[in-house]
Amino acid sequence: MGVLPVEEKRVITAQMEELRKQALENPEQFWDEKARALEWFKIWEKVLDDSQKPFFRWFVGGLINASYNCLDKHVKTWRKNKVAIIWEGEGGEIRKYTYRDLFVEVNRVASLLRNFGIREGDRIALYLPMIPELPIFMLAAARIGAIHTVVFSGFSSDSLAKRINDSKARLLVTADGGFRRGKIVPLKEIADKALEQTFSVENVIVVKRAGNPVNMVEGRDFWLHTLLEGVSKNTYIEPVKVDSNHPLFILYTSGTTGSPKGIYHSTGGYLVWVYWTFKWAFNLNDEDIWWCTADIGWITGHSYVVYGPLMHGLTTLMYEGALDYPAPDRVWSIIEKHGVTGFYTSPTAIRMFMRYGKNWVELHDLSSLRILGSVGEPINPEAWEWYFNIVGKGKCPIIDTWWQTETGGFMISPAAGIQLLPLKPGSATIPLPGVEADVYTEDGEPAPPGTQGYLVIKKPWPGMLLGVWGDPKRYIETYWSRFPNCYYPGDYAMRDEDGYFWILGRADEVLKVAAHRIGTMEIESALVSHPAVAEAAVIGKPDPIKGEVPVAFVVLREGYVPSLKLEEELLNLVSETIGPIAKPANIFFVHKLPKTRSGKIMRRVLKAIVKGEESLGDLSTIEDASAIEELKSLVGV
Ligand code: WTA
Repeated sequence: MGVLPVEEKRVITAQMEELRKQALENPEQFWDEKARALEWFKIWEKVLDDSQKPFFRWFVGGLINASYNCLDKHVKTWRKNKVAIIWEGEGGEIRKYTYRDLFVEVNRVASLLRNFGIREGDRIALYLPMIPELPIFMLAAARIGAIHTVVFSGFSSDSLAKRINDSKARLLVTADGGFRRGKIVPLKEIADKALEQTFSVENVIVVKRAGNPVNMVEGRDFWLHTLLEGVSKNTYIEPVKVDSNHPLFILYTSGTTGSPKGIYHSTGGYLVWVYWTFKWAFNLNDEDIWWCTADIGWITGHSYVVYGPLMHGLTTLMYEGALDYPAPDRVWSIIEKHGVTGFYTSPTAIRMFMRYGKNWVELHDLSSLRILGSVGEPINPEAWEWYFNIVGKGKCPIIDTWWQTETGGFMISPAAGIQLLPLKPGSATIPLPGVEADVYTEDGEPAPPGTQGYLVIKKPWPGMLLGVWGDPKRYIETYWSRFPNCYYPGDYAMRDEDGYFWILGRADEVLKVAAHRIGTMEIESALVSHPAVAEAAVIGKPDPIKGEVPVAFVVLREGYVPSLKLEEELLNLVSETIGPIAKPANIFFVHKLPKTRSGKIMRRVLKAIVKGEESLGDLSTIEDASAIEELKSLVGV
């Protein structure tokens, strides 16, 4: 590809400029044309309906099916014998599914779902480890028009229960257990606990994965392998022709307030967006072996492990376990073994490998790699350089993709499939065609180049969320109220003199811990559910590997005293209520939290103290300045 990372000048070719211009000036015509890359059963009547702003609807009246576009489309061609999924288990076993194999399994599972009475529009919850059954169930659900909601298998029973209750899922699919660092995570057991708090689930399908003993409830729980014994390999379930705006999935994600929001996406608009953004950003083709390391429990896995690669008929690699297990070179050995050409991971993973050192990389032949990607959090220039030089040997461009659960697919990203602009370590470069992004000041004015402000998106795009499940008000309030007529993603950003965007982290109370999205509010409510806790405030502390980690400040109720045991209890409580990823790195017991006179916790002060900043900013509104001294001495500054 011959791409150098940094050049003096940025020259946008006519082709790139033209595409961006067309997409923004004449979006309906642009997307009318682009959407035809997918197979539709019926073409839309209107490309964009903006009559119910901000509930924009794309490809209105069109009929489509996601499973058809990922499978049937390829099975009709030579690709039927092409490998669709390469799966590697944590213990080293390998399974490969051709497009034909995947088609067969998805049809069989779709027929099972039907037998359980699942119909178009019903929700099914998938609480599964990274095993091929996960995409198989997703595609099977999509095939019959059911809406999947995947719950990350690192989440606790409470988190699972919340998601089941909010989506009113009728069916739960889980596994006996999943492997993580050689240990078994007892998923069925966790699911059973969740089911004690839910009412909607009628049946549970259990995949046998880890072989650990489980409790099966007669009449409610069924083993997948037993069910499949009765389903022929010739089973064919006609894909349901769903409306373009029929929800394909709900995926819960953290926000500033309350419990996680059910972000739900359309079928047509989402697929069109994922299809094109993937092509534009990474430009992969039939020879490529693509590996996106994200867990399918997050949006990155939905769009770029499953739907994007399969729509394009690519070979997508799925790995079950931890990237550094059993040794720090596991990741490099997988790339070498399978000849991975496109590799997409998080800055946290890169920083972790960097710490292990380049010797581990050099044990392996990584010459198959030709393109690298980064996602989930800002990438610091040191990690970028290391990724570029040590992993990519200075010849693979780094596609730093900025986007969110809500956006469905990439928004701001280098575009190897159109024109690769000179890269700058730490910048996602410029918006993809169809994305009109800007940086605003506090007051909603365009921020001058070089200054930090709030990222905004000024036009609807096909991959945008349909809304927040069951809560249209929250959709408007969260995303469309901060600045008039703009979608507000909740990120700080800066645009430089060349028009490049630099994403500077969350502007709200959302943390990105090891690229995972976690709300501080969720951690706080877990903490205050403990009888000893009167108040809690959680903030993000910069961390050299994970980007940031949660740190908690806790005020105890009368009669309770801080102890290691209590700290342990609180940490476990967070783990049980949300999941181990949300565990605070530190808990500080304090007598008082810094608050404004109107009683609001001054998080920025807590953040400044934890970061050891000299200046704590404006303290004129603080209710009781003595809180500060205690905090400083505790944190050790
Ligand atoms: C952050 C993950 C900087 C950002 C796809 C965003 C990034 C949040 C980048 C969404 C990037 C994602 N550079 N920050 N390349 N990609 N983010 O919903 O704060 O889990 O708002 O989606 O991750 O997280 P989510």
